[in-house]
Amino acid sequence: MSETKADEKAPLSYYARHVFFCLNERKNGEACCAQHQAQEAFDRCKSQVKAAGLAGPGQVRVNKAGCLDRCAAGPVMVVYPEAVWYSYVDGHDIDEIVESHLKNGQVVERLLTPAHLGR
Ligand code: FES
Repeated sequence: MSETKADEKAPLSYYARHVFFCLNERKNGEACCAQHQAQEAFDRCKSQVKAAGLAGPGQVRVNKAGCLDRCAAGPVMVVYPEAVWYSYVDGHDIDEIVESHLKNGQVVERLLTPAHLGR
């Protein structure tokens, strides 16, 4: 087994930013992010990140997630490593998050999930 030199090690964070979208769907009528076009928002975010040349190692990864347990604020997404939560409404909100936060590192204050909202 060969040794790995310190400078050959992977960076601590493989992605500069990692985004998770709740796509949870509840069939029993209870509130869920899937009721609010979460799949469409996820698809739009993925395509916008790719189109902006932001996708990939060292940059941005957008992933699906199940319930993030903040359903009362849904639809929600969260951006790490900053742990910034957003409650978005439509595709324009997604575009703004991509351009402002994921591309330029500026949090979109108007879309922040209210801190007190959980499930
Ligand atoms: S259903 Fe989306 S956070 Fe729970």
